[in-house]
Amino acid sequence: MIRACIFDLDGVIVDTAHYHFLAWKRLADELGVNFTEHDNERLKGVSRMHSLEILLSLGDISLSKKEKEAMADKKNAWFVDYVDRMAPEEIFPGAKQLIQDLRAKDLKIGLASSSKNAARVIHLLNIEHDFDAVVDGNMIRQSKPDPEIFLLAAEKLGVVPKQCLVFEDAEAGVEAALAAGMKCVGVGMEEQLRKADKVISKIGEFKLSFLRELEVV
Ligand code: G6P
Ligand code: MG
Repeated sequence: MIRACIFDLDGVIVDTAHYHFLAWKRLADELGVNFTEHDNERLKGVSRMHSLEILLSLGDISLSKKEKEAMADKKNAWFVDYVDRMAPEEIFPGAKQLIQDLRAKDLKIGLASSSKNAARVIHLLNIEHDFDAVVDGNMIRQSKPDPEIFLLAAEKLGVVPKQCLVFEDAEAGVEAALAAGMKCVGVGMEEQLRKADKVISKIGEFKLSFLRELEVV
């Protein structure tokens, strides 16, 4: 029986995944690394430093720890700048309604984002009170695909993993949810998310009737 829904943030509730891409692309251009949206799929859901490592490996670049920290800080400053100019209308259509509908069905609602900026984003969007528990990149040791973030979210929500349904746009996130023993809805392209129990292309496409289908998967 599903008792809780846990949402990823970037690319599921709001289009900040695009801002992460723009900021990484800007850094890649500066470093002379060829970086495409396809490459960016590998960065989704993983931590800032791990993302930078992937980007550097694409360009066969090696940097000292200090240089890496400076690059990660630079990317983050650009990302924060995009985010600070974001409007509440940038929440994906249907996301807020879905959260309300799930809550009306007595389901607990959690947020599990590897981003250290998650609290800032949900505050700016004025949705921080829509969640019964929030776990972000500051609270975990291992980012997705490790299940840690989802296990912690379940614990905070007072449910066991098999009672949770996760909404994820990243391949690493789908893997993390399944490794946690949870059901998972992939939000995005089938080719990247095929491991999920169900794939929808946008969050607004999720119907409450899918809950019953997913319970018997
Ligand atoms: C999320 C995004 C990733 C991002 C990571 C860290 O998981 O999907 O693209 O790299 O968070 O975000 P941060 O805001 O801490 O740099
Ligand atoms: Mg995401």
